[in-house]
Amino acid sequence: MIETRGLRKSFTSRQGRDKKTVEAVRGVDLDVAEGEIFGFLGPNGAGKTTTLRMLATLIEPDDGTATIAGADLRADPGEVRRRIGYVAQGGSTWDDSTAREELVLEARLYGVSKAEAQRQAVRVLEGFQLSEYADRKCKTYSGGQRRRVDIALGIIHEPKVVFLDEPTTGLDPQSRAHMWDEIRRLRAEGMTVFITTHYLDEADALCDRISIMDNGEIVASGTPADLKREISGDVVRVGLPVDAVTAAAEALKNYKLETYEDNVRLYVEDGAVSIPQILRALDAADVPLGTIELHRPSLDDVFLTKTGRSLRES
Ligand SMILES: Nc1ncnc2c1ncn2[C@@H]1O[C@H](COP(=O)(O)OP(=O)(O)OP(=O)(O)O)[C@@H](O)[C@H]1O
Ligand SMILES: [Mg+2]
Repeated sequence: MIETRGLRKSFTSRQGRDKKTVEAVRGVDLDVAEGEIFGFLGPNGAGKTTTLRMLATLIEPDDGTATIAGADLRADPGEVRRRIGYVAQGGSTWDDSTAREELVLEARLYGVSKAEAQRQAVRVLEGFQLSEYADRKCKTYSGGQRRRVDIALGIIHEPKVVFLDEPTTGLDPQSRAHMWDEIRRLRAEGMTVFITTHYLDEADALCDRISIMDNGEIVASGTPADLKREISGDVVRVGLPVDAVTAAAEALKNYKLETYEDNVRLYVEDGAVSIPQILRALDAADVPLGTIELHRPSLDDVFLTKTGRSLRES
């Protein structure tokens, strides 16, 4: 449903007399299958929105090719636009209009009659459980309700693909869970859903496949389970007083490890076997231990091994 090769985009901005160039997207290859929820995971500034804006025909790529829902992005952007929906990171509803007004207007922009637009509005209002508030001004909605209106606006014309830029950022846990259900419903109706997120749990729980982006490049792609399996073995996290981290790293230098401000993480074959050995090594070096935890690799560990940084801490 989406195929890109070598997509690139730089921005040049003036700062006084100097010109500054940011390579926001540096050669992105993506393959998204029909009917999947595809997640684009990455820290702030990774280039997620820029990629999405290119795919949604809002900005032109500097280089590369893309086909979306069978239409060529370069040769036929108008056709791409007809086949997709796009919901921006910041949303797009007006304070003083009602959800119904917004939806009818949006439907009419796609060229349907007033009566048909009203029917479509009723259908999506029901689908997103918004009927009850449909005639109230958007400024009176809760964050979760207003975000649902945004998504409803993006899909009212029944696109094949919908791009949702951070659909759940800023929502409370309950509204996020509700939004996940809405997104799964879109998939069940046959839509391909492309979301960006910087929530690890969201990528893990919601997405069929993900690409992890950092610094304008994709550093890993696959199903969440495959990516985690790639990092074989267990992770042992040893919590330490800040001034003991260096000594701990020295005492454990025979392990594959990463050091952090107040902990070290060791990548081991079998945590249950390694923990006693780790404890003995720390004890022998007189390193004061805070906590010790064993966990299966997370998507954060995938990001960590690919970039040397933690997604959480960035
Ligand atoms: N119009 C622009 N002009 C100049 N720089 C830009 C512009 N748009 C984006 N950038 C820069 O490109 C880089 C990627 O930005 P982008 O918005 O794509 O990141 P993101 O992954 O969506 O981040 P976030 O998670 O914060 O939304 C950033 O360094 C950003 O400052
Ligand atoms: Mg963004």
